[in-house]
Amino acid sequence: MKNLDSKSHVRGESIYLDDIPLIQGTLYACVFDSAVAHGTLRSINTADAEKSEGVMRVVTAKDLIGENQIGGVVPDEPLLADGEVHFQGMPIAIVLAESEELARKAVRKITADIEPLEPVTDPRVAAANGDLIVPPKKFIMGDCEEAFANCEHVFSGRTEQNGQEHLYIETQGAYAIPIENSGLKVYSSTQGPTAVQRAVCRVTGLPMHQVEVDVQRLGGGFGGKEDQANAWASICAVGAQLTKRPVKYALHRMEDMRMTGKRHPYSSDYKIGLNKDLKIIAYEVTFYQNAGASADLSPPVLERTLFHATNSYFIPNVTATAYSCRTNLPPNTAFRGFGGPQGMFVIEAAIVHAAEKLGVSAADIQRNNLIDDGDEFPYGQKAESDAITSWTQGDAEFNFAHLQKEADGFNDESKYFKKGVAMMPVCFGISFTKTPMNQARSLVHVYTDGSVAVSTGAVEMGQGVNTKIAQVAAKVFGLPIDKIKIHTTNTLRIANTSPTAASAAADLNGKATQMACETIRDRLFEVAKGLVEAEAVENLSLEDGHVYRNGDRTSLDWKSLVMDAHLQRVNLSEHAHYATPGINFDWTTAKGHPFAYHVYGTAIVGVTVDCLRGRYEVDYVKCCHDFGSSMNTSVDNGQIEGGIVQGLGWMTMEEVVYDDAGKLRSNALSTYKVPDIHSVPKEIAILPLQTNRENLAVLNSKAVGEPPLMYGMGAYFAIRNAIKAFTECSPEFDAPFTPEKVLMNLYSE
Ligand code: MTE
Ligand code: MOS
Repeated sequence: MKNLDSKSHVRGESIYLDDIPLIQGTLYACVFDSAVAHGTLRSINTADAEKSEGVMRVVTAKDLIGENQIGGVVPDEPLLADGEVHFQGMPIAIVLAESEELARKAVRKITADIEPLEPVTDPRVAAANGDLIVPPKKFIMGDCEEAFANCEHVFSGRTEQNGQEHLYIETQGAYAIPIENSGLKVYSSTQGPTAVQRAVCRVTGLPMHQVEVDVQRLGGGFGGKEDQANAWASICAVGAQLTKRPVKYALHRMEDMRMTGKRHPYSSDYKIGLNKDLKIIAYEVTFYQNAGASADLSPPVLERTLFHATNSYFIPNVTATAYSCRTNLPPNTAFRGFGGPQGMFVIEAAIVHAAEKLGVSAADIQRNNLIDDGDEFPYGQKAESDAITSWTQGDAEFNFAHLQKEADGFNDESKYFKKGVAMMPVCFGISFTKTPMNQARSLVHVYTDGSVAVSTGAVEMGQGVNTKIAQVAAKVFGLPIDKIKIHTTNTLRIANTSPTAASAAADLNGKATQMACETIRDRLFEVAKGLVEAEAVENLSLEDGHVYRNGDRTSLDWKSLVMDAHLQRVNLSEHAHYATPGINFDWTTAKGHPFAYHVYGTAIVGVTVDCLRGRYEVDYVKCCHDFGSSMNTSVDNGQIEGGIVQGLGWMTMEEVVYDDAGKLRSNALSTYKVPDIHSVPKEIAILPLQTNRENLAVLNSKAVGEPPLMYGMGAYFAIRNAIKAFTECSPEFDAPFTPEKVLMNLYSE
């Protein structure tokens, strides 16, 4: 079934923040931000801006009625700079004016006296200075020191990974409207309506019941609107509170790129030890995360890096240490994979390093160390593993050895074009690693005409979560999908939501919806039992809009049943709560069972490098992927394709460049290259893993939002192999592999 939004998207009828009809008297906000990455803010001169045409008010930190604080995890992030600026793009003042243009014009009239301080952009420098966001985190399993002493082969090295701009099509934005008794209604392009509500309450001093947050859908979030929507909603809220007029702010692309954080760059050290049978016996890794100027979501992102430090492999002795380093960059944040990919890249690089030195193929080491049922992850959870089955089923379908041979044959014949192939196994844990976040609610109303309205905490951002939730309701009620309407995500209807993140939105909100619908269905069965003279409710079922008795269709249709139930004063509404069972994690021991389940997969990636120009094409990404049992192959395949392209973009062409002064140089689409239709793989083949395992996913259909991104990482290693087919060299593990970098490596000798 197609994504429910597909029609309105194609016709341009879907509503995003910028499409919300404006109330008369609406003001437009625009931010004056710091041009200096680190400094002491001596004074701000807003006098000229205040006199500028159409300007209603200019707001600085001292004007806030509530706290000047929006940090979600650690309270270290002022909404507006006060005393110090710590990144270029940090908001200092807000202009509120009658039009967008007038607001922007006035911003240019503001000046700030900032005494520059030394900026730090390198996470290792920050760590050496002791400037950490939170104390270091560590996972330990076995005894690395002893294990290394007994290893046949030990290799160590260093990797660098750059950040990634989210480049959601819809930029950040919000629209805040004052309502009676000092309350606020806030429309926000956010993955976390409750996070926005909390931030708005903090800066305005309002209690949560006075602030309503509403989200229709996002034009993409990819993690970038999990916490980073808070600032813009807070800015609008503060403006609305101070002027008593509605305030809107939809960022320009360049403002968004300059002022918001991105995927965390990491610099890492690894040491890998193998025995003579190519079993990895020990792995030691240290991650330096470039957190940016404040915590934002860096600590949980750092944790997931540790959780995925061994990717799909079982390694008996592991010591993994992670530092969240404070630098003078915009606060880096969640991005599809949430730190997991950064952890996986390092183990993959370590394996490639070992393979090269030992003269074997990396695939041999990968295959030889895949985690099996019952093996323990470094964090204590025992695997229910499909790492090996996804490899063998993928191999049976795609014939990995043949694809490698094909590339080798091509390379023998071709002088200036070389092909490279790499395997990319993926193992990704599903659940928020912070256990309390794994809860969700759903509110279901059945109306007397038989139509059904569902509200949940899930935010639709293109990933098709609304379609899946509607499918759940349709299935329980035995109705066609057009009888179900999924409404906006709204904090009045659904309170205390977790953000739509961790790929868990369909599971959590879908399960809550299933529970609510089943409760209503059971009440309806009691009514139906009398109407169709069934002996027991167990004999009843609902299908194609009718009540069935002992598998036979009765004359009682859904609409009549609903009306009858209503006349009998039966409750046709339900608000259900779901909390993932069986999960826990204890940071004092760094052990537990944090994930409801894992998603497994194996991809093979093939590329062709033009060795004269350094350009490359991705020929194919073929994966065997663990969907459990997909409830919507159209949506799920879309997630796989999009995830792969986003992953290989990160690993190849997307290059975030900050100069030493902390200024973003890749600040527009002319200087930041994302994959377009010409750079997507020529072939993406998706083979669903065949499995009979039960899992905790909604309708057994596993989470799919993030895991496929990591298949794209295979492109990095495939390009590396192609370069090595051209010239004897050993490129550093320094992602992304931009064409420039490829060229340098091709002619490094
Ligand atoms: N797909 C689209 N089209 N747009 C997005 O913003 N975000 C990704 C993924 N797929 C995203 C997407 C991220 S980062 C996550 S965590 C999941 O979707 C969240 O949605 P889910 O929990 O419903 O999978
Ligand atoms: Mo996704 S990075 O968990 O929003």
